[in-house]
Amino acid sequence: MALSAMTNFDFSLENKDLYQAWRDKKLKNYPVRIEQLTTSITNALAPEPEAIQTLRDTVNTYNFALYRFEDARVGKPEVHRLAQALGLKQIHANLCADADSLTSIEMTQHEGQHDYIPYTDKKLSWHTDGYYHAPKEAIHGMLLHCVRPAYNGGMTKLMDHEIAYILLREANPAYITALLHPQAFTIPANVLNGEVIRPAQTGAVLSIGQTGRLHMRYSARQRNVEWRNDAMTQAAADFLLSLWEQETPYHLHYTLQAGEGLVCNNVLHCRSAFVDATEPDRKRLLYRGRYLDRIN
Ligand SMILES: [Fe+2]
Repeated sequence: MALSAMTNFDFSLENKDLYQAWRDKKLKNYPVRIEQLTTSITNALAPEPEAIQTLRDTVNTYNFALYRFEDARVGKPEVHRLAQALGLKQIHANLCADADSLTSIEMTQHEGQHDYIPYTDKKLSWHTDGYYHAPKEAIHGMLLHCVRPAYNGGMTKLMDHEIAYILLREANPAYITALLHPQAFTIPANVLNGEVIRPAQTGAVLSIGQTGRLHMRYSARQRNVEWRNDAMTQAAADFLLSLWEQETPYHLHYTLQAGEGLVCNNVLHCRSAFVDATEPDRKRLLYRGRYLDRIN
């Protein structure tokens, strides 16, 4: 099947009419308030079909949605159940995942995690999850559930990666060509104590999946990322960096509270630094699931 027949718009640069119609429809959804993106779930043991449908519809429009369990005391089984109901079934187990493959994001001193900013109280720069994965392990869906927020800070900022595509293309269509290049972006190998934990990964920043939807691999970190040595690629990377300095209607931000969470098609996101509580049972704790599936 031709790509254009499979997708809700044509990402190719040639088909301007299809692109412009899709772009206009997409941008019309903004500005949007966080409350409009949030759906309440009353029954954590069996989420209401209406709530699931609303979450799916919201993700279909924005590539992300927020949920709120009315009773915040939910555990991993309930979070798993919600993910499954949304079609997030193939969970990716990473190095630091818990036994059931949902990762606890908290400040930790565990060996092997100490170098990873997610497990500190530091700011986490803009990225998509699993940007260092091989293509067969590309992360298409992501869930972030808040058990306990930080004492202060720990705000999540979000941008639909399809909006980033639009902003790039409007600025210069050649940015898109550069970021579709199969060597656009390299993540060097992860070496711990002389052992290669993960080999280097070279690939495109933007790619079109088998479903015809856009996928993005990205990290704003200057360290540990090698952009293709080409003027247009560098300019596109600079353009993306400049986006993170701005406040636009397309940048959403929210600090997840206990019982709330984010479900998304691996959109661009970042986290602000935070101050944790001193009592161990009041420290910030989030569960994260990374999936090979999209929410459709
Ligand atoms: Fe992330």
